[in-house]
Order: sequence, then C-alpha cells, then structure tokens
Amino acid sequence: EKGTYAHFMLKEIDEQPFVMRKIIQEYQDEQDNIKIDADVRAAMLAADRIYIIAAGTSYNAGLVGKQIIENLADTPVEVHIASEFSYNMPLLSKKPLFIFISQSGETADSRAVLVKIKSLGHPSLTITNVPGSTLSREADYTLHLYAGPEIAVASTKAYTAQIAVLTLLAVDTANAKGLTLDFDPLQELAIVASVMESLTDQKEQYADIAKAYFTGTRNAFFIGRGMDYFVVQEASLKLKEISYIQAEGFAGGELKHGTIALIEDGTPVIAISTQENVNYSIRGNVQEVAARGANTCVVSIKGLEQDSDTLVLPHVHPLLTPLVSVVPMQLLAYYAALHRDCDVDKPRNLAKSVTVE
Ligand code: F6R
Repeated sequence: EKGTYAHFMLKEIDEQPFVMRKIIQEYQDEQDNIKIDADVRAAMLAADRIYIIAAGTSYNAGLVGKQIIENLADTPVEVHIASEFSYNMPLLSKKPLFIFISQSGETADSRAVLVKIKSLGHPSLTITNVPGSTLSREADYTLHLYAGPEIAVASTKAYTAQIAVLTLLAVDTANAKGLTLDFDPLQELAIVASVMESLTDQKEQYADIAKAYFTGTRNAFFIGRGMDYFVVQEASLKLKEISYIQAEGFAGGELKHGTIALIEDGTPVIAISTQENVNYSIRGNVQEVAARGANTCVVSIKGLEQDSDTLVLPHVHPLLTPLVSVVPMQLLAYYAALHRDCDVDKPRNLAKSVTVE
C-alpha cells in the first residue's frame, strides 16, 4: 500500500532508515554480535576468492560490496554482470564462492550462472529480498535483505539493504578470520540510518535541484572516483530508467579520454565526492567541465566540503558513504521524472524482475 505517498518509489526511498534498523536487528544476537549462519560463515572462510554475480542495481551494489569485503575481510572479490559471465568467464580460483545478489531472486541471467557453476560443483550464496525465490532455493545458502516488498520498478531500498548485508557479512568473516577491525558495523549502520532520515526529511531541496538541473535536458553526466564511481553508476541508472534522460556515470579521470567532448553549455554534470583521497582530483574534473559550460552540481560530505557545494552530507564511515550518497541521487531521479511527467513507478519498457535471458 502506498498510504499517503504519491508513488511507491518515494515511499521505498523513505523506508531506507527503517530497513537499516531492521537489518541491524535481524543480524544481531543477544550479545550484540553479528548473527550469520555458521554454514555461511564457513563458506566465506573456505573461499580463496569471491565471485559476485548480479544485474542492474544489484550489480552496482556488488561493486560497493567488493570494496567493503576486500577492505574488511581481506578476501579478493570479482564482480560480474550476470548476462556476460558465460561469454567472458573468468579463470576461477581453486576455492571460489559465488554470491548472487538479487532483489527478486528471479533474474534469469543470474540463474543461468547459478546453474552453470553448480554443474561445476562450486558453492553458492544468494543475497535476496525474497527468501523463497528461485535463486534462493537453488543456491546452497541464503541471506535475507529484510527490505520489505519493493514495488516500484526502480530499485532503491534493495540497493542499500544489499550493501548493509554485505557489510555485516564482511565483518563476520573478518571476525571469524581473527582480523582486528577498527569498525563496529552495527553502530556505523545505526549512524547511517539517522543520516538517511535527515536526508529524506528535506525533500523540497531535491525537487528544486532536480528542476534546476534536469528540466529540458537531453542528457546528464555523473562523475566520481573510487567508492563514488560506483555510486554515480547507480545514480545514472536511476535517472535514465525513470526520467528517460540519457545519463551516464563516469570515472572522473576518464572524462578527458573522450566523454568531455559531449559537454556543452548547460550540460548537467553531477559529481559525488565523499572520499578524502579523491576530493582534490574530482574537484579538478568539475572545474574542467565547468570551464566548458557544464551546469555542475557537487555532492560532498562533512569534512571535505567547499562553499560552492550544492549538498553536503553528514559524516558517515568512509566505507559506508554509498548508503547515504545514493539517497539524494534516488530523490533527484524521482523528482526529475515527476517534473517530466513520467510514470515513476512503472517506467516504459521495463519489468520489475527480468525472467528472460
Ligand atoms: C534498476 C532495477 C534493475 C534490477 C535488475 C536486477 O532500478 O531495478 O536494474 O536491479 O533487473 O534485479 P534483481 O535484483 O531482482 O536481480
């Protein structure tokens, strides 16, 4: 039920703080430790390399998950687009673990990979919002996202839930490996939940920004480096699928290798800067495009901000910035679609789950 909301998408964006809290609650035991099934933990410990398989937004969450798992759990991770996996099958390590990330658990491209790797005898874990789904039934193990039903075609709360669950999985693995972490995930996710709330509480500003940048434009670019590069890919997917604006997410450093030729007077370029090690360089990229007439918008984070920034996010742990920087991106896409009279919850040509290869 939409309740007082005009669209499921907006409702689902607003639900994200509650989903974070639900995940904290469901993955926590009485001693405030992370609660993950012993067999999932054993599979993570046994793996010498993890292969994440997913499509669309779930793939974008996987890109963030790779950084988090490698940083915290010290296990190498590759992320693959499900539909490409069989054509460009990587050389597998000796003890691979396949993690399927899928909101619906029904994506045919991912299922095809699961069938293939099962026939090769490799272990599999599905992270899904629908525990009884095909990918969940057919994989060896399942982790539940607890995001509640996601009705809007454009995925929002599943993306943040996927990153949160991958974080808990990474920390659990790190603990099981005996690694010392300077990171309390349950506490950091609680901070994320409050920050998400502070962002969704100020909707008018996103409506205004969307109007200023996306009314009447044919295309838009999102740029970021490092962790932010993964979020700009999700930001551009959100914008294009519901507003039909041609949008692309680029690595800041790649701009000068071609894409910058597309910048004209008024082209919207949205930059995300949440990481100290990229702050200087990405701002250089913003200046390059501004000098060529782009209508630039910078979303930064407390501690790295400059006066001219359009939005400054409250501070969260550097590994978890995607969980908060994606929220303004979801809202910008939502309001852009609204301004352009698009069917927000049911964009043309798209289905909620893609059950054909
Ligand atoms: C984008 C979107 C799609 C899905 C993709 C995978 O907003 O919804 O890109 O993310 O089709 O779907 P699942 O996660 O159900 O496997």
